[in-house]
Amino acid sequence: MPQSRKIIIDTDPGQDDAVAILLALGSSELEIVGITAVAGNVPLKLTQNNARKICELAGRPDIKVYAGAIRPLTRELVTAEEVHGKTGLNGPQLPEPTMPLQEQYAVDFIVETLMREESGTITLCPLGPLTNIALALIREPRIAPRIKEIVLMGGGFFEGGNVTPAAEFNIYVDPQAADLVFKSGIPIVMMPLDVTHKALTSSKRIQAFRQLGTKVGTATAEMLEFFERYDEEKYGTDGGPLHDPCVIAYLLKPELFKGRRCNVSVETASELTMGMTVIDWWGVTKREKNATVMRDIDHDGFFALLVERLGRLN
Ligand code: RIB
Ligand code: CA
Repeated sequence: MPQSRKIIIDTDPGQDDAVAILLALGSSELEIVGITAVAGNVPLKLTQNNARKICELAGRPDIKVYAGAIRPLTRELVTAEEVHGKTGLNGPQLPEPTMPLQEQYAVDFIVETLMREESGTITLCPLGPLTNIALALIREPRIAPRIKEIVLMGGGFFEGGNVTPAAEFNIYVDPQAADLVFKSGIPIVMMPLDVTHKALTSSKRIQAFRQLGTKVGTATAEMLEFFERYDEEKYGTDGGPLHDPCVIAYLLKPELFKGRRCNVSVETASELTMGMTVIDWWGVTKREKNATVMRDIDHDGFFALLVERLGRLN
């Protein structure tokens, strides 16, 4: 058995974050060194609580969960209760967590882990605003060359934005943090709306989770039934995009995705396009190609992987 890949999941749960965390917990190829919560979909006190609820749902109270940034680097926090509900995890009735929240500040945990572990062995998986990642890079620039890869959900180009006409939520909430990360020189794989909008739930796909007949399967079905309604109404689709699990699925089966190396630049000046990720997909500029941008997904394969791996949990 090859050694499992060490990851830190940085997250703002969020039902789609929750499914991403469950996918990682159901996959022995991955070792979750820690989960760092960030303010995003809902305020930090809820995202850190939700992360612990999900770990306990999966029977993993041993996972270390850390609280990070309470707000973006410079801008006011924008949240998304209209999508995720007041708790950020509306849908299932999950018990309050009993596992502890780690004392250590998430940013310090990220820095300490990267400086301690062998260089090139830790993958960062941001699923929310990039505030924690940017703060870690500012706090200790020496971590940058030690990071194996950043595989993130965020941005959009051909698909436009989901929180403004130009910007996707994770980047919009903290554009300054995103700008710093995309200019860091760290290898980045990006899952923008252009690919996540092709990973749509459906009643049949949600039924497959329920048919697992487990706590995890039922809770996942309940989360997705709540989560999809917002995008169904907005886009007139049957089903909603399952954004964040694309990050973990890429680590497990990269062949599910297709994309190309591009330059990605983040708008941080104009309020009209604030947080827009300008993706030079056709290579019309001489800007450095700083990310592998995914645009296509084998969505049947993606959902089959999700059901199979979540089926390994209780
Ligand atoms: O725009 C989608 C992203 O914003 C997802 O990560 C979702 O959880 C929210 O954080
Ligand atoms: Ca998220």
